[in-house]
Amino acid sequence: PAAPGASEPAPAIDVILAGLRRMEYRGYDSAGVALVNGSEGVHAAKRAGKLGNLLADLEATPLPEAHTGIGHTRWATHGGPTDNNAHPHLADDGKLALIHNGIIENYAQLKQQLLDEGVEFHSETDTEVAAHWLAGKLRQSGDLTEAMRLTAQDLEGAFTLLAVHVDFPDTVVGARRNSPLVIGLGEGVNFLGSDVAAFIEHTREALEIGQDEVVTITPDSVAIVDLQGNPVQGKPFHVDWDAAAAEKGGYDSFMEKEIHDQPQAVADTLLGRTDAEGRLVLDEMNIDESVLKSIDKIVVIACGTASYAGQVARYAIEHWCRIPTEVELAHEFRYRDPVVNEKTLVVAVSQSGETMDTIMAVRHAREQGAKVIAICNTNGSTIPRESDAALYTHAGPEIAVASTKAFLAQITACYLLGLYLAQLRGNKFADEVRAILDELHQIPAKLSQILEQTKGQVQDLALRYSEAGSVLFLGRHVGFPVALEGALKLKELAYIHAEGFAAGELKHGPIALIEEGQLVFIIVPSKRGRDSLHAKVISNIQEVRARGANTLVIAEEGDEAVREYASEVIYVPQSPTLLAPLLTTVPLQIFAMALATSKGLDVDQPRNLAKSVTVE
Ligand code: G6P
Repeated sequence: PAAPGASEPAPAIDVILAGLRRMEYRGYDSAGVALVNGSEGVHAAKRAGKLGNLLADLEATPLPEAHTGIGHTRWATHGGPTDNNAHPHLADDGKLALIHNGIIENYAQLKQQLLDEGVEFHSETDTEVAAHWLAGKLRQSGDLTEAMRLTAQDLEGAFTLLAVHVDFPDTVVGARRNSPLVIGLGEGVNFLGSDVAAFIEHTREALEIGQDEVVTITPDSVAIVDLQGNPVQGKPFHVDWDAAAAEKGGYDSFMEKEIHDQPQAVADTLLGRTDAEGRLVLDEMNIDESVLKSIDKIVVIACGTASYAGQVARYAIEHWCRIPTEVELAHEFRYRDPVVNEKTLVVAVSQSGETMDTIMAVRHAREQGAKVIAICNTNGSTIPRESDAALYTHAGPEIAVASTKAFLAQITACYLLGLYLAQLRGNKFADEVRAILDELHQIPAKLSQILEQTKGQVQDLALRYSEAGSVLFLGRHVGFPVALEGALKLKELAYIHAEGFAAGELKHGPIALIEEGQLVFIIVPSKRGRDSLHAKVISNIQEVRARGANTLVIAEEGDEAVREYASEVIYVPQSPTLLAPLLTTVPLQIFAMALATSKGLDVDQPRNLAKSVTVE
């Protein structure tokens, strides 16, 4: 809400729609807004499909002017993506509007109670139940904040709720449990959003709001209470990027921009983490050194692309630290009864810091006594807040749904963590750590070189193979997670069936897939570092080529040996084997993006996906 005054504030609808545009990556199967301006009812509009549909409606039929309102983009859970199921949902004879992220687990039971009371429903969503429940509590208490507090007490599951009511025309009230919500502090205007991108155009000052808390904002006040009604002080933080960082900046898509942001993302993640002597210092590592010295196992937990960053980390951490390291998908870890204890260090990797599967795994690990370090790109988000320490990646806002620059930044942060532990535990001497850090500092320039010199070649390849129905990716050692990530990018962006395999596994099954014309990417390790590994991958290329595959080979500059076996070689600059994923991933990202673009697909918002999956 904003105060009407001398300098007339922007109409709420403009602020909300601009915020939704920046937030659409979180879900985009329907969108809606609701405004209050002191008239009889809430003014609401909502539409299935991308935000553009709603914008077109609002253009044709504008809503009346207002300075208070809420808006939502949806990723459907309960009820398909239809106009009726879109948020906001109205209650109290159209006087109350509510939006929701998450899943209300006891909605069926609450709905039955409401049906028995004669409430009529207009959607199949769990959200509409919350709207009517809130209306009931408001009738009881006469106060919107109190009503929200009572509602949150009755709900089970995960939710962020925001509501407005015509009787409280300057107020937005919100509640959160297990779903993200942050507060933006402006002058004569305050904001609530799932993340700071919602209001970054207006303020970079923000407040975290904790688990099971209710917030009430007006143009000039912010008040937070816990579910018992006790006042709570939100934790302030400053957002270190501005609105321009969340714009396309001249590129055709966020994906393309973010691929080009990668040299900066890696450089910024390294920045300020070494002292004058070149030693690694991680100020944020506020876990006792004695604890870090005593750990006997590391478990990396993550989902999607972040889990592949974890897989890369395992090779580096085990090699540098000699600590057994496992990598597991967070949702599998959580429900497997894993063996973790005080001597386990759990590393939770997440761009958003809001992936529910990873949050649940973090909680489980801490309950078992493990220390948890979050590697995260989003300040103020849940995972770092609930972890013992947070090592932030500084990739800047990542808007495209499929991850690119956050992946490279995650890998970089994992290397820093590995080196830090090696340094601390005496597995590596200062000069060895410095040498690896030196190599890491050279990566951004090498990334720029790939983007300048190799991008065109990869784009041409994507056009040439745009009709491919299936693509395989092979790699060994750190090339294996790169292969998995290459396949995932192609699935996510181009909807092509793609699989990544450990190249050594080929002969144990996947080779049966190879037939004339099958497209296969092979990531070849450096010959300088691991000659025997190089030779083995070359054999794997020969095996698939002999069976008719088209082989697209990613190799290090100067590796002439691969030419003979490749339909095409994509060269990347030289680097130590363990650091190579920071380079070899990039052609695969470009390939997937270019192929999807050539098919006319939306690379920023692929079908069915959401960037921040806040449900289990
Ligand atoms: C979703 C996104 C993926 C992402 C994964 C983990 O599935 O579509 O791109 O890798 O979540 O997200 P996180 O925010 O935890 O890194």
